[in-house]
Parts: sequence; C-alpha cells; structure tokens
Amino acid sequence: MSADDLLFDPRGYNPAMSRGEMGSPEIEARIEALRAELRHHEHCYYVLDAPEVSDAEYDLKMRALRALEAAHPELVTADSPTQRVGGRSAEGFRKVAHSRPMLSLDNAYSAEELADWDRRVRELAGELPVSYVAEMKLDGLSLALRYEVQPTGEARLVSGVTRGDGQVGEDVTGNVRTIRSVPLKIDAEKLSAAGLGPAGLSSPEPGLAGLPVGASEFEVRGEVVMPIAAFERMNEERERAGLARAANPRNAAAGTLRTLEPNVVAQRRLDFYAYFLLVAGEYAAMGQAATLRALEALGMRVSRQWAVCATISEVVEFLERVEAMRAGLPMEIDGVVVKVDAQATRARLGYTGRAPRWAIAYKFAARAGVTQVRAIEVTVGRTGKLSPVAVLRPVGIGGTTVERASLFNADEVARLGVRVGSWVVVERGGDVIPKITTVVPTPEGETGVAESAEPFRMPVECPVCGTAVRQSEGEVDSYCVNTDCAARLQQSLLYFAHRGVMNIDGLGEALVEQLTASGLVRSIADLYTLTLEPLVRLERVGEKSALALLREIEQSKQAGLARLLMGLGVRFVGERTAELLAGAFGSMEAVATASEDELMAVDEVGPKVAASIREFFGNERNRALVERLGALGLKMTAEKKQRSTELAGLTFVLTGTLPTLGRDEAKARIEAAGGKVVGSVSKKTSYVVAGEDAGGKLDKARELGVVVIDEAGLMGMLTARGGDVQ
Ligand code: IVH
Repeated sequence: MSADDLLFDPRGYNPAMSRGEMGSPEIEARIEALRAELRHHEHCYYVLDAPEVSDAEYDLKMRALRALEAAHPELVTADSPTQRVGGRSAEGFRKVAHSRPMLSLDNAYSAEELADWDRRVRELAGELPVSYVAEMKLDGLSLALRYEVQPTGEARLVSGVTRGDGQVGEDVTGNVRTIRSVPLKIDAEKLSAAGLGPAGLSSPEPGLAGLPVGASEFEVRGEVVMPIAAFERMNEERERAGLARAANPRNAAAGTLRTLEPNVVAQRRLDFYAYFLLVAGEYAAMGQAATLRALEALGMRVSRQWAVCATISEVVEFLERVEAMRAGLPMEIDGVVVKVDAQATRARLGYTGRAPRWAIAYKFAARAGVTQVRAIEVTVGRTGKLSPVAVLRPVGIGGTTVERASLFNADEVARLGVRVGSWVVVERGGDVIPKITTVVPTPEGETGVAESAEPFRMPVECPVCGTAVRQSEGEVDSYCVNTDCAARLQQSLLYFAHRGVMNIDGLGEALVEQLTASGLVRSIADLYTLTLEPLVRLERVGEKSALALLREIEQSKQAGLARLLMGLGVRFVGERTAELLAGAFGSMEAVATASEDELMAVDEVGPKVAASIREFFGNERNRALVERLGALGLKMTAEKKQRSTELAGLTFVLTGTLPTLGRDEAKARIEAAGGKVVGSVSKKTSYVVAGEDAGGKLDKARELGVVVIDEAGLMGMLTARGGDVQ
C-alpha cells in the first residue's frame, strides 16, 4: 500500500480500536446522517448553485460533525465532508499513468473549417449516425477523477490526476478533494440513476452504460477552472500582500492545483466541470449527450450550456449563442468543443496521432487588438511603488474601448521591448486590466507617434512629488519614499476606504482628489476630523452626500483591529494575515510592540512579513498615526483567540510514515492544539498515531489497549478546532 493509499484508502483504513470506547450505533448513525445532510447541501450549493439552507446553518452542522468525529476518531472516514482539507504533501506529486491517454483536440477557427471537418466526419462515418454534442470549451486544465465502487454499493473518490503530458499525469488528489463540486462519495442510488448501478457494473447483462461485466471503478474527466470572481479576489489579495498578480484564471488554476498546501487550495475556490465518463479506459457506450446527463445524475457539475446538433449549421448557431453570452459567464471560456455523439461512430472515426477525429475545438478569436503606444506614464501606488502604464491609441476589443494597459514594472517593459511609438498587441483576458503581450512591426502605411529611439527608463524621481526614487538591490520595483507624496496619500486613502478594508462607501477617486488637493485631508486620520461645512464647500458635494459620507466614516471606527491593520497598508499584510495577527494579539498595542519572533509565532507569518510589520511600527510617523487614530475613537482591539486546548491533557505517540504529514509537522500540530508527543508507548498514552510500516510501537499499543488512530483520525481531532477552512 502506498502512502497515499493509506489516507485515501476507499475502504476507509481505520486501525481497529482495542479499548472499549467504540462509538455506539446511535452515534455512528448520527454521524452518517450529518454527513449525508452536508453532502446534500454541498451539492445544492456548489453544483446546483441553489442552496437550501443558510451558510450559518451549514456551518453549524459541520461543527456538530467535527465535534462528533473528534470525540470518536475511530469513526472518521476519508470521504467525510470534514476531510476535504488534508495535510500538505511534502514530497511533491506522484506520477500516474492514465488509463487512456488524455489527448488534445484539433482546432477550427471559422465556420468554413468546421464545415470541412463535418464533411470528413460524415465521409468516414459511412452509414453510421452522425449528430453532434456542442459544449463550451472551458479555459482551465483537464483532470481525471477515479472512483472505486465499494462492496456496499457506493463509490468513493480515490484519485485526481492532472493531464500531464497526456500519457502520465500527476496525482493531485489532496488538492482535488478540496474542490467542493467534486463529490468525495457517490451513493448507490446516484450510481443507479447514472446507469452505473449494479446492473451496469456487476450483473451478467451490461447496464445502461454498457459497462463491462464486473467493473468496479470508473473515471470522470473534465476541466478544473478558477471562476473569474475567485481569480480577481486572489489577485487583489496577492497585490495587497505585495505579490505579483497571476496572469489569467487558467494559470492561476494550474498553479493552485500544484500547490503543496491543500488549505491554500481550499481557499482559492476552484471548480470542476465534468464532460467524460470512462469505464476500464473506455468511453461510456451511451454516447456524449447521455454521458452529460449521467454525470449530472452522479452529482457532478456539468456546464449548463450544451446542445445536441443534428447539423453543423446548428453547431454554428450554438457557438454564436455562446459567444454572445461569453462576457457574462462566471468563468473563462475560449471556444466550443464539438463531439460526435454516438460511441459507435466515434470508434469508427478513431484517432490521428494526437487528437480524436471525432471531436474538434472551435476557438473564439482572441480578445486582443493591435494599437500604438502613445506614451508611457508612471503612476505611484499607496506603497509608493512606481508602475509604468502604456497610454494607447484607443482600440476596440471585445466590446470595450481600451486606452491604457498596465506594464507592471520596468522589467516587464524591458522584456517586451515596448517604447513610445511601438505597435503592440493588447489582450483583455480574465483580468479587468488589459495587458500588452507583444510588440509587433509597424503596420504598413501607418503613421502616428514616431517610435522613440530610447528604450523606456524608470524615472529616478517620483513623477508626482519629485523625491528621489529608491530601488533596492534585487527588487524589480522602484519606490517613492516620500510618505507625504500626494499620490501615495490618495492611493492610501482609497485603499483604506475600500470595501474589503474599512468600508467607507462614497469615498471614491474624485472626492479623494478634492480632499487632498484642498488640504482638508493630509493623513488618513484627518478623515475622522472632517466636518460638514468644509465638505459642502467642495465642488459637486451636496449636503446629503456629505452627511452620508460622515456617517460612513463614523461607522468605520468600529471596523476593528483586523480591518484597521489592513487599512494601514503594512506591506505583505493582507486580509488573512491581518486577521491572524488580530486574533493572536488582540490589540494594536500588542502587535505594535511584538518582536519579530513573537510575530513569527503566528501561523503563516514568516520572516518577511514579520520584518515588514516591525519596520512599519518602527517608524515614528506611523506610530503617531496609529496613536492619533486611537485618540479619535477607532476600535483598536479584537477578540483574542484562545490558544487551542483541544488536545490538552492528551499524549500521543507517532509511529510509521504518515501519508502526508511529516513527523515534525504532526508533532507541531498536536502541540499547537495543546497535546503532548512522547517517544514510547505506555499505559498513559492516549493515542498512537500509526502510519505505514508501523512496527513495535503499534504492537505495544495493541498489547496495552491504547487507542490507535491514523492520520485521518488525527486530522479529524485537529480540524475539530474549527480553525481551518471549510
Ligand atoms: S474534450 C480527447 N471537452 O480543451 C478529448 N475538452 O483543446 C479532449 N476543454 O485538453 C477533451 N472544455 O483541457 C473537452 N467541454 C470540453 C472542454 C475541453 C475545455 C479543454 C481540455 C482539452 C483542451 C483541448
């Protein structure tokens, strides 16, 4: 048994308990009932987008299940809804060969090319039926999920493998388990409804799916995507934390899926859309339309937009409809995939080297345009960071006019070779900000701004206040170091007022500019001394909106420590870090005076973040600002989270190799929850945590009647703290 098998063993590996604490049948029934309810609500919420209960109600049930499982670790199973987020996989990902190669598709770029393909298909199909299923082509990455059918009749997710090179992919099961639209367990009724029930799997007659006799596993293939909203949230957080933005949702999804921290993956909210069902490496015999329905019956998320098309002109109608709705979809798509419906016809058509002849990808024209760079401006952000921005000859791309494109930093400008006067390709991806992807030769006969002879250089002085710019060694970015710089102040105010931060509605760009230009606001703290009279004297500010703004500002005083910490704009302190700091320290004073070591004792705070916090509070002006905010009545405290005492009084012995947690990490987690880890088993030992190749200690535990649990059991006890993401 491999290490991974141990955690995800479909039989739910649970070393027998030898003490008399076995869960009573009532408790077991209660646990199963809660799981069934939670699975149902997850399906409603994540797959059907139609929740039946409030989030709070769901959380309550989840908490109840966690508590029961913590009290009865012997009843924890790998497919429990509490077990989506496992430990990190330290050794990277295992390579796995696919049951059938995951091929790619040939592309078509026009209705004519589709018609050519249709002719070829019909020729090769001969007398066999040809109708098509047209589906959206989701812009993500393909993934193969393997399910094993248990003797009890239900199926369990056993692995999730990336496409890789098509032959061999990577086992990313731990991460895939965190995707809420991927069911960890599929019950027997659902299998039957999908034609995969006993009739399909084990009776002498092939079932609806025409599955081979005795098959006990099946595979679901589909696309992992990062919804655009999740992508934007992720990029906002990355920016707040001083990290580079991800280029597009596909890259973000791919990067996320290969992250070694399942709890990070869980926060990123990936989604999975199913489109193929395979049994024993063969496509289900029912054909594509029936496959999509079967997948839906299994509880999988299937894109709602698909159609059976008798002719290629119906396909063209479909793709026109889809292209029209493209901008409003929750995820990125880059075309339409057309598949021959009938499996028998597909079998006759077969494959070329790299792609099936029975399917084709119609690619939408890229949302890109060619235009000229008129100027390169440099803007200053709230941290003082200088960013080059290309000012473009206006160009229409996918329904909007694009006039500016971010160039991010000097390295990017150099990499692209962009100068004033350059002709460039501008793309609008999933991101709202258009970006330049390449420089192209000047189109013939075009005149415009003459191309500059000089490559772009970052200014050595701040373009707004004229202060000398700092560029630290090894950093690509340049900074204006003047904390009074008008641009920095404006950006800081906007950030402070932002919805996810202090949430001051009505404090937008125009007003911030007026407030700073008039000298009414010279610091964040000045917001809290604003009064009605000077406000209404500003142009275009009426009494009603001024009063509303003052109310918003007053209300923001109660935002609390985490929001305020974020709002101050300490580098690398985004939402999550701010919350962790607030929870750990409880007051601004405690954060401001904490040493780097004390800061690093907080989960997820590393040396870089700790140093940045120290630097911030080491600065006299910042301290004065914080003091003034306190004096103005802003709430400077948060509920301090009690150090966890979940495992207080319990002693653990670790033995064997755990599937995902390293020895040190398991120890650290137990200790963080108040438990103790000792080296040898005695009567006093509360639990022995056994992994693969557990030896003498396991025997000893059995001999002494000490409770033996596996990693999943341990995780169940730990996550019962309710501190992680679900
Ligand atoms: S069918 C051999 N259906 O597009 C069959 N692929 O360009 C190949 N994709 O690798 C896959 N949506 O990652 C299929 N509805 C869909 C798809 C889809 C997106 C991706 C998939 C594939 C790539 C081929």
